Amino acid sequence: LDLYCVMGNPVAHSRSPWIHARFAELTGQAMHYGRRHIELDDFALAVQTFIQEGGRGCNITVPFKFEAAALATHTSERASLAQASNTLTFQPGQILADNTDGAGLVDDIQQGAGFDLQGRRLLLIGAGGAAAGVLGPLILARPASITVANRTLPKATALVERHAALATLQETELLTHDLRGLQGSFDVVINATMSSLSGAGVPVAGSTLRPGGLAYDMMYGPAAQGFMTWAREHGALPRDGLGMLVRQAAESFLIWRGVRPPAQQVLAELRAVMQ
Ligand code: ATR
Repeated sequence: LDLYCVMGNPVAHSRSPWIHARFAELTGQAMHYGRRHIELDDFALAVQTFIQEGGRGCNITVPFKFEAAALATHTSERASLAQASNTLTFQPGQILADNTDGAGLVDDIQQGAGFDLQGRRLLLIGAGGAAAGVLGPLILARPASITVANRTLPKATALVERHAALATLQETELLTHDLRGLQGSFDVVINATMSSLSGAGVPVAGSTLRPGGLAYDMMYGPAAQGFMTWAREHGALPRDGLGMLVRQAAESFLIWRGVRPPAQQVLAELRAVMQ
């Protein structure tokens, strides 16, 4: 049986083992996908141990995505732009790092929500790890512009500078803004901050949301409820991050197994079991 797992801290509540087990069942792949809680100082050792046990690949979650990208022998372009990896693949003598978070988000917006990003004006709130993981793939969807707004402006500037060449190539305008005093109206607002988790409330004005636009929170479950309510109150289409979770998993599964699993079906099943 080919072995995979998700590594993180905390990891107990991760839905990834359930999602990958369903993918494996539905595509007839003989594999086992577990979960490993890793102590904060033990990540590199944990990866080596898993490789020695025959592990074929793993997903990486908080707080190890940066370390995962750093310890790889080969890094995909999107993982190196993100400076973070959520998907490691092990081959003899090699650790390949990729990042499927952004592709998962873009797929969920375009396929899941049916909202085409090309030519749209996007607002990305946050400039931490979650935002970094998705900016490259968002640019590849060729929106007219992406404004990265963050409480700490220099972090947004650094993130945007790293993506400037890609944005020029795709003819997407990249802008930065301090969260305070943010004006304008956007077709899509994406929350990539933890603020919904901490209950701090949505950090931008409702007027940033164009009525009929899309308001996306990368969180899901109770953590996303504040943002979803805010979006609804301002006439936008709310969407939580559960679809992104399933679709980033589908992209990882495709990398590992060469088979695209039925993400839409598994998302519907997951929503049903989470009710
Ligand atoms: P993650 O990996 O989830 O992105 P992170 O790298 O710590 O975690 O980034 C968290 C993001 O949420 C950052 O953009 C952070 O803003 P700062 O860069 O200014 O710290 C943002 N954030 C967290 N709490 C926030 C709050 N209460 N209001 C506004 N932004 C907040």
